[in-house]
Amino acid sequence: MRHPTRKRRQVLVQKLLGRLPHRQQELIGAARVLGNRRRVSVYLVGGPVRDLILRRASADLDLTVVGDGIAYAKALAAEPGTRATIHPRFGTAALILRDGLRLDVATARRERYVHPAALPQVFPGTIRDDLFRRDFTINAMAVRVAPKGEELLDLFGGLTDLKRGFLRVLHDESYRDDPTRIFRGSRYAARYRLRFSPRDRRLIRNVLAEKVLQRLSRERLFREVKRVFDEATPEAALRILQDRGVLKALDPALVVDQGAFAQMRSVRRAWQRYNRRGISSTPPLWRVYLLVLLRSVPARVRRRVGEHLGLKGPPLDALMTELRDFAFLQEQLEEGSLRASRLRYLLDRASADLRILLWASGARRVRHSVERYLTRLASVRPALTGQDLKKFGFPPGPTYRRILDRLLEGRMEGRLKSREDEVAFLRRHFGRPR
Ligand code: CTP
Repeated sequence: MRHPTRKRRQVLVQKLLGRLPHRQQELIGAARVLGNRRRVSVYLVGGPVRDLILRRASADLDLTVVGDGIAYAKALAAEPGTRATIHPRFGTAALILRDGLRLDVATARRERYVHPAALPQVFPGTIRDDLFRRDFTINAMAVRVAPKGEELLDLFGGLTDLKRGFLRVLHDESYRDDPTRIFRGSRYAARYRLRFSPRDRRLIRNVLAEKVLQRLSRERLFREVKRVFDEATPEAALRILQDRGVLKALDPALVVDQGAFAQMRSVRRAWQRYNRRGISSTPPLWRVYLLVLLRSVPARVRRRVGEHLGLKGPPLDALMTELRDFAFLQEQLEEGSLRASRLRYLLDRASADLRILLWASGARRVRHSVERYLTRLASVRPALTGQDLKKFGFPPGPTYRRILDRLLEGRMEGRLKSREDEVAFLRRHFGRPR
């Protein structure tokens, strides 16, 4: 007879898998059949298991195979229309199915960190090794898909931590081995409303004091910063990073105040409006958040803070230029009562990032000006074109630009309302058409 708790665990797992969308269930079914046929153990692992327990949708499925994961992935990819990218060095493969569904397949592995913050060496391992190398208990659970008899593997207490709301690493060296986990943890804490366990807080404090963040390459550091900004509410994760002393450890001047957090919310609202209206191309939101963050520190240390966030070279220069442009535009727009043509001129030349930031910057007058530009001015065009000017006998040259600008100005100021008005205007001021 089966042990009752085991039976109960199986029921739990069936319930969990039953929460997957139909198509993902089908895929798990195919993965099981293939696992049985090839006689390898296959597990659904990490993020998708956590998300199933939390009843959240997970875009991608992650499978771990104990054995030759690549051969398994190749067989799974045999279905027509599937694209597979294989990384032999890591024993992993990324599959994109015909209908866009994504599936990552990995060989179960063990990791060894030779230096703190270095990339790990990897070796084949058991499922336990593979779970133990992971960041948090909540990410270290697995569901066995094959062989049959599904089971939830929760070796480190992830389920309890999820219920009690704790983020906990699996061992004391975890943050030192991989300091990006501090950022990852802050994102999870914000996204799932968890908090670092008291032990984790202490571990984080210790590694920050050892300046372990400074050992990360700029690229790795900035990738984490960007992932924070890619969260649905990055200000929540940033607040946690600030509370845990991470921002200060990156740069002592990096202090984000309530105003900046509020501005991030406002940026999001502006971006959504912008996006809905489809008035102009919407820039990536993370970049606008980054501008808010940099604006919240004194101008003289901004470049240094940018560097300490992992930026450099042309991308950093571009942000600095935008911040200077922002100060100028804000000043101009705050004066109010700008002529329509002047407003159009200024905002046509501002980047989409800056228009959003101006809208979100708080001052009512500035916001109204941006609204006026977006809803009324940005799309105004004269009815006449360069072709028409040519037909009217204007000699081609730089005057075309000047004439078209005058027409645009007249349109925006409401003096010109129709093509006939424009033709009359040309005749009056430029002597053509005769
Ligand atoms: N992982 C880890 N340490 C890292 C990066 C990843 O332990 N520095 C493990 C975690 O177990 C994680 C899994 O690899 O669950 C997959 O990583 P990733 O796709 O980045 O995370 P998800 O959990 O899918 O989270 P997200 O929803 O943010 O993508």
